[in-house]
Amino acid sequence: MARIVLGITGGIAAYKATAIIRLLTEQGHSVKVIPTQNALRFIGATTLEALSHNSVDPDLYTDVESVKHIALAQEAELVIVAPASASFLARTASGIADDLLSNTILATKAPVLIAPAMHTEMFLNEATQANIKTLESRGLAILEPAIGRLTGEDSGIGRLPEPEQIVEAALALLEPKDFLGKHVVVTAGGTQEPIDPVRFLANRSSGMQGVALAKAASARGARVTLIGANIAELPGVSFVSVSTALELQSALDAVLSDCDYLIMTAAVSDFRVKHVSDVKVKRSVVGQNTTLELIANPDILQMAVSKINDLGLAVKTVGFAAETASDVSQLRQLAAHKLMGKGCDLLVANDVSAGRVFGASDNSVLILTKTGIERSISGTKTEVASAVLDILGEI
Ligand SMILES: Cc1cc2nc3c(=O)[nH]c(=O)nc-3n(C[C@H](O)[C@H](O)[C@H](O)COP(=O)(O)O)c2cc1C
Repeated sequence: MARIVLGITGGIAAYKATAIIRLLTEQGHSVKVIPTQNALRFIGATTLEALSHNSVDPDLYTDVESVKHIALAQEAELVIVAPASASFLARTASGIADDLLSNTILATKAPVLIAPAMHTEMFLNEATQANIKTLESRGLAILEPAIGRLTGEDSGIGRLPEPEQIVEAALALLEPKDFLGKHVVVTAGGTQEPIDPVRFLANRSSGMQGVALAKAASARGARVTLIGANIAELPGVSFVSVSTALELQSALDAVLSDCDYLIMTAAVSDFRVKHVSDVKVKRSVVGQNTTLELIANPDILQMAVSKINDLGLAVKTVGFAAETASDVSQLRQLAAHKLMGKGCDLLVANDVSAGRVFGASDNSVLILTKTGIERSISGTKTEVASAVLDILGEI
């Protein structure tokens, strides 16, 4: 767990820093907060102290025996400034050190993430843009503000991104960059096969494990393409939205020859409806009994593996298998069978009986590789994602 310094400056979004502190402390990180004097006009030190469980004193000239700014700079493993005001960006770009936060930033060797938030005009102002470029050129990470509702009635770019996104972007700075230069393609979500314009066949996959893998690969330096079946777009990665199994297959075909790792977490329907109705199927028309004729969808993972082999591509493939097993040894058996059958390099199997896994934030998986590695991992989907990438890096 990391020692984190959180700087807060005087912007309307300063109150959102409370959610950032909460997310970080809940994950076990230690957080020391340095508000600017103007930040304290927007949010009270008492709140920041209570949430961070650390004292908050932004005065550079108190506790001078410990040389506070140097101590904070040296002990920090990560520095976040959120929200960062236009004035803060200008001062930092010029190297001005006239308060505890700016001195700490000048003195630290830790990675720094800055999340600017201000009105659109202030953000797009040439001075602000030039300051951002200067800071980026010096290796500080700038998180692009979101587009949305601002202080008043107006909306545009300049809104502070959601606390979850700030925390993820910041913690990503601490990850090893062992996937730098690699293109990782992840499929996630669950396909939907239409029956008529209103109804479809679907499954319970939430896409959370795939999204966790896409985020983890991106944090470790990879260029990521996420092919998402009926899930929300993920900022920071190239996102291809699909709905049916056939759409997923063609999206995959388009990227396969330019890919180093293929991670297939999407729950793809085994079948689709043979005759999709153009109009809503009505009971008054079909009567009390009706039959849907289904035809098999292609086995997308197996076909991708065959194509990779036929074309001699250097793509490592990962399959996911949601099984309903009676115990671990049956799960192992099913997983080994699937690993062989699909021909992928690594298989992640989980037991989904009794409603486990789908939509939950935790996962418990068995990982098998073609090279004979076997590992059981239980934890959050983020932890499982990180373990899968560790093993992929080994094989
Ligand atoms: C109500 C109000 C809201 C403000 N919101 C922002 C803001 O969102 N972003 C910003 O850059 N400045 C904002 N400002 C201006 C800053 O507070 C001002 O530039 C200040 O000098 C920043 O101080 P600091 O960077 O030392 O914290 C706001 C000012 C007021 C009065």
